[in-house]
Amino acid sequence: MSDRKLTLIVGLFFAVTAVAAIVAVYMWRGGGPGRIAAIGGPYALVDHDGRSRTDADFRGGYALIYFGYTYCPDVCPTALSDMIVAIDELGPLGARIQPIFITIDPARDTPDRLKTYVPKFHPRLVGLSGSLAQITAVAKAYRVYFAKSKGPTAVEDYLMDHSSIIFLMDPDGRYVIHFNHGTGPEKMAERLRELLS
Ligand code: NI
Repeated sequence: MSDRKLTLIVGLFFAVTAVAAIVAVYMWRGGGPGRIAAIGGPYALVDHDGRSRTDADFRGGYALIYFGYTYCPDVCPTALSDMIVAIDELGPLGARIQPIFITIDPARDTPDRLKTYVPKFHPRLVGLSGSLAQITAVAKAYRVYFAKSKGPTAVEDYLMDHSSIIFLMDPDGRYVIHFNHGTGPEKMAERLRELLS
């Protein structure tokens, strides 16, 4: 093998290795752990007053977002109540957090229905609904599971299976942390105080 050929082969080897390394880094950043951590995203919904709202409307302050439905017998009311108690416990710091309730049962949870529900929890709680496609998209962005519960239920009276997670989004609309169901308002308030102080 001539020296020239060897140089060419070695050079080609390094070129291929360099390209592979660049591709690996690109994939890792785009499709690897960075992508996995990306919870949330843009959405366009309708609030309980019938106004169009997007994620951009809630920028500039923190937001706690919970996905559920108004006909939920116990899980959703508990989670919403915990979220609100935590916010109130924070006092002035809590005023920097916008509580948001996004329905995963848009067929029944119309804006009018949400209007009779959200004020029971907090005057600042915003209820969001939309078309099934819009709700499916936002739930997917937050990796929230929901489905009509199977069982011998009448069409008008059914339960929904769904994830029960409270998401904290920062003033730029980026995901910070989430609270699992049963975290409790004291622990939630404590963690929020640490993060917002
Ligand atoms: Ni529920």
